[in-house]
Amino acid sequence: MRVFVDSADQQEIQNWLNQGVVDGVTTNPSIMFKDGVTDLEEGARKLAALLGDRPLSVEVTSNDREAMLKEAREFATWARNIVVKIPIINEYGESCLGVIHRLTQEGIGVNATAILSFNQAMLAAKAGATYVSIFAGRVGDEGNDPAIVIRNVRNWLDQWDCPAKIIVGSIRTVMDIQNAALAGAHIITIPPQFLPKMVDHQYTRETVRQFVQDAGKTLKEMSKAKVRVAASVK
Ligand code: E4P
Repeated sequence: MRVFVDSADQQEIQNWLNQGVVDGVTTNPSIMFKDGVTDLEEGARKLAALLGDRPLSVEVTSNDREAMLKEAREFATWARNIVVKIPIINEYGESCLGVIHRLTQEGIGVNATAILSFNQAMLAAKAGATYVSIFAGRVGDEGNDPAIVIRNVRNWLDQWDCPAKIIVGSIRTVMDIQNAALAGAHIITIPPQFLPKMVDHQYTRETVRQFVQDAGKTLKEMSKAKVRVAASVK
């Protein structure tokens, strides 16, 4: 399973890249703005360069499908690892499957986003999306179980040898990450504030403290024993 970071914060991304757990990054206009990006192209180019070959999702900013196509084609020229995020529908409920299909036919990677149901994921995968982004937190907001949606989509993709990969986004708690991983997500995109919580554990700290203290005592005993052995040899 791959881990993406849902962030535009270069320091955070670099920190987790250095620890070997980042396989890509996802953004949206709100994340870009929250993390201090004021120029979309400049921000996207910097993040794409930071990531090397790893994918960076950049989201279109329009409701108009022709404008989405235009924007997406431009984003794709900024860096080879840019994947364009296209919502499954626009805010008026108009299907964006045609946009997804056109872009993938042109060789542009598409992350079909804002997916909240099995049927939306199935159609996005059929249209050729590289990634289908299931928004776990928002599925839960509506009283549905994201794990069931994720598992059903994964089973369907596997059953039909469909190459689309599931990204689980809209992570709101550490438990959402575990649930998504166990439900069959190919990728989870994690807001960086959850990564320290995933790695930390009070009892691990206590365990390490105990070993470090014991090691100190043991090293002293070892050096005393070494002196005794050396003396007895003389
Ligand atoms: C992921 O790609 C989305 O941009 C993001 O996770 C949405 O999260 P939210 O539902 O908490 O806003």
